[in-house]
Amino acid sequence: MTMNEKEVLDALKKYREMDLKYEDGRILGSMCTKPHPISRKISEMFFETNLGDPGLFKGTKKLENEVIQMMGNFLNNNNPFGCIISGGTEANITAMRTIKNISRKKGNKSTTVILPETAHFSFEKAREMMDLQYINPPLTNYYTMDVKYIKDYIEDSKNRIDAIVSIAGCTELGTIDNIKEISKLAEENNIYLHVDAAFGGFVIPFLEDKYKLDNYNYEFDFSLNAVSSITIDPHKMGLAPIPAGGILFRDISFKKYLDVEAPYLTDTHQSTLIGTRTGIGVASTWGVMKLLGEEGYKNIVSECMDNTYYLIKKAKEYGFKPVIDPILNIVALRDETPLKTCLKLREVGWYVSICKCVGALRIVLMPHIQKEHIDGFVEALSSIKKN
Ligand SMILES: Cc1ncc(COP(=O)(O)O)c(C=O)c1O
Repeated sequence: MTMNEKEVLDALKKYREMDLKYEDGRILGSMCTKPHPISRKISEMFFETNLGDPGLFKGTKKLENEVIQMMGNFLNNNNPFGCIISGGTEANITAMRTIKNISRKKGNKSTTVILPETAHFSFEKAREMMDLQYINPPLTNYYTMDVKYIKDYIEDSKNRIDAIVSIAGCTELGTIDNIKEISKLAEENNIYLHVDAAFGGFVIPFLEDKYKLDNYNYEFDFSLNAVSSITIDPHKMGLAPIPAGGILFRDISFKKYLDVEAPYLTDTHQSTLIGTRTGIGVASTWGVMKLLGEEGYKNIVSECMDNTYYLIKKAKEYGFKPVIDPILNIVALRDETPLKTCLKLREVGWYVSICKCVGALRIVLMPHIQKEHIDGFVEALSSIKKN
């Protein structure tokens, strides 16, 4: 049964009305937010572009190169190679594919990677697809990888390690591994280092000193010699619309580990996992980055950090305890029955998530969250706990 245009749009509107809206401030557990308004116009302009066949969309491909260069600039790399892809999952799988292919080229039959328990579940998908072996070092009291354990593990001559993955802004708590020290170890032992900064990549470079904890190491980018690749997602704190994930490599030399022949396309090789892919994420990231600039992102990050501290203050007033002092704009509040609390909160319209590595509720203070939402949420949480 066909519909006319008005009927189609009216029907779709009804479905859309069932969705939560960022501006209502009820989405407290997501790492996505309302995209910057300019991306609406950009999406329309780049609506039909396909970077899967870049020779047909030369302007959009040029934009992608420029975006990778712009992101490289704030990650301390003047000469990066990379792509804007569907998200952090694809970026991490792409990094693991590179690591596996480098290992195979060296004649190894298996690929062993050290990565933290706090790593995003996208790495589990990669493990399953590529039959990778993972080593999980214990976590420190700060929920970061124990560097001493990594050192001992590498130095034990029985162990061959292909790569280390470290996290700059882990999904559950926002912690940053001690990547400076890990990079030294990786460099000394000639080991590939991938950094998952899917969330932190658009936060840490713009974090004002006043929000930084003493004696905490925030370094994570290409200024550290061993870092070969970084996942960094514009569709999280970059304010680009979905889909816009990012993978950056230190230089073009990594491309050969990803390329497959693509004989029927205008470019005879393709390095991305996904073939047909929209240019909307690329163009929007370009536009939002040009519009906001460093100052704009600093202001956004500062507002989110301000709200992070506000939530912690409010939560403490009501007797709730944060698991750690905030590193980024993510708060974990201790809870003995987090799933139960989370489901009860959902019944009254508040959507938080829970941590796996510690009994806690997890709240991400994205740009759509305002202080009035925080007040409402803490009151709802308190009344749930009283009943
Ligand atoms: C650290 C980290 N890496 C990767 C991802 C996966 O990103 P996406 O959902 O865009 O695939 C996330 C998502 O939250 C994340 O927090």
